[in-house]
Amino acid sequence: MSILSKIFKKKVVLPPADLSVLKTDMHSHLIPGIDDGAQTIEDSLELLRAMQDLGFKKVITTPHIMSDHYKNTREIILKGLDDVRNAIAKDDELNIEIDAAAEYYLDENFIKKIKEKDLLTFGDNYVLFELAFMIEPPNIVDATFEMQLAGYKPVLAHAERYAYWYNNYEKYQDFVDKEILLQLNINSLVGYYSPITKKIADRMVDDGLFSFIGSDCHRIDHIAAMRDSLTEEHLHKILNSGKLLNHTL
Ligand SMILES: [Fe+2]
Repeated sequence: MSILSKIFKKKVVLPPADLSVLKTDMHSHLIPGIDDGAQTIEDSLELLRAMQDLGFKKVITTPHIMSDHYKNTREIILKGLDDVRNAIAKDDELNIEIDAAAEYYLDENFIKKIKEKDLLTFGDNYVLFELAFMIEPPNIVDATFEMQLAGYKPVLAHAERYAYWYNNYEKYQDFVDKEILLQLNINSLVGYYSPITKKIADRMVDDGLFSFIGSDCHRIDHIAAMRDSLTEEHLHKILNSGKLLNHTL
């Protein structure tokens, strides 16, 4: 390669990745009116159509459960799931399966629910949970240990988005060693959240740290960003890694 061609090295343009190999998306907000995702049943159907077009056969939607903002319960989520299933059945274009779990925010209510063994799970007893974005919660290890004692398998939502670990990268391997599974948002790979989030996400993909990948779809602009992410090198890399468990769901 000449010096000039090295300097002006073009980014290789990859063909769009095929998300259908994942079969299942396991992180989204598609039940209308119960969190900051879909607000109406029409929103839900529009997002489901787009997920189907992207190649997904199934979505496990995960409404927020957060004491301060989204006081969702098992009953509220399962009733909403029923409504969405009924709307899908009436829609000729839709042929996508939907199930529901939750995205639990690590707070006192979550700890209580772990102890009561009253969590919404998906797949092999997986529990999706998220953390505060600004300050690292002090009780992550205790909470995940409690989950494991209760027979749950903790899955940390969008592990690449917590900026307080950007200078403490070893933390991710510690979690993996403690059998805390890590989930990547597809849109992190296209720089949707921030350039630094993309950088960390790419590095974590290189290091094989993720077990799940998810859309975290709330709105139609998340779908547009996912379409843009299809040509990202690290999306191809993680889909080909053989490490993802999405297809088992
Ligand atoms: Fe989410």
